[in-house]
Amino acid sequence: MTIAVIGSQGMLGRDCVEVLSQSHSVVALSKADLDVTDPLSIHTALSQIPDLDVVVNCAAYTDVDGAESRPDTAFLINETGPLNLAQWCKDHPVTLIHFSTDYVFDGTGTTPYSEQDPVSPINRYGASKLAGEVAIRNTMDRHYIFRTQWLYGLHGNNFVQTIRELLRTKPELHIVNDQIGGLTWTRDVAVTIRRAVQSTIPYGTYHLAASGYASWYDVTRHMATLLGVSIPIHPVSSTTFPRPAPRPHNCRLNCEKLWGTRLPRIPHWDERLTEFLL
Ligand SMILES: NC(=O)c1ccc[n+]([C@@H]2O[C@H](COP(=O)([O-])OP(=O)(O)OC[C@H]3O[C@@H](n4cnc5c(N)ncnc54)[C@H](OP(=O)(O)O)[C@@H]3O)[C@@H](O)[C@H]2O)c1
Repeated sequence: MTIAVIGSQGMLGRDCVEVLSQSHSVVALSKADLDVTDPLSIHTALSQIPDLDVVVNCAAYTDVDGAESRPDTAFLINETGPLNLAQWCKDHPVTLIHFSTDYVFDGTGTTPYSEQDPVSPINRYGASKLAGEVAIRNTMDRHYIFRTQWLYGLHGNNFVQTIRELLRTKPELHIVNDQIGGLTWTRDVAVTIRRAVQSTIPYGTYHLAASGYASWYDVTRHMATLLGVSIPIHPVSSTTFPRPAPRPHNCRLNCEKLWGTRLPRIPHWDERLTEFLL
């Protein structure tokens, strides 16, 4: 199978390239190689790849707070980009794998969100990612949209890397404990999508996260224990750290649709974080 990974220099993109290359022929395309906002750039880059089977779109505008002041940029990359890719993939025809987010939900629910639950983003990043989903669904059938969340990995700015540094350098920490979600290693996402294309699960939208749920405070405490750090860590409300973009409180994704396809479940977040850190 030949797979093109777009946004290959991003946090998830780099792990997708590494993991998919173990079993498939992979063409890694950075933003300089392919700009998703430009249909000509898409055509030029993708039409050169012989026997292309799958396009994995890891390109996105991911600055959640930045999207509040730059919504046009966010929508250009997160809505028009996927639309352009879907049109090319439909015409050629090639399977498209795309990533979306738990931020399509408003977070007011009291249980984990399933794929059927109504969407209602509360920030512009979430709205732009939702628009990208809709653009793909309206354009082509042969697609997978994986809504994932709370990603961390080796290659990028993320909560785990930030907290690791803060635990090393600060005398105490105040960490939000009223947002709950599923902390997920980008490597596990990459392994799961490799399995998904190999076992040809039905096309459609799936939630994809590690097992179990936690608050950012829970994650930080687990990290402190693992790293042998004993500074005071205080749980605080999101209102302690006002941000330009509001965050949903209940970010939990119900991933049973995906695991019901018989793909192996990603183990519990704390087990995966332990492997990542140690
Ligand atoms: N990170 C999370 O916690 C999280 C949670 C839920 C869902 N997701 C989704 O997961 C996917 C991957 O996220 P990530 O954290 O890996 O993002 P990331 O590290 O920010 O990577 C995104 C990549 O897209 C590239 N890009 C930006 N504009 C582009 C364009 N016009 N054409 C081509 N490439 C472009 C970026 O290049 P430059 O850096 O050079 O601009 C960057 O390499 C995204 O769809 C994101 O919405 C992420």
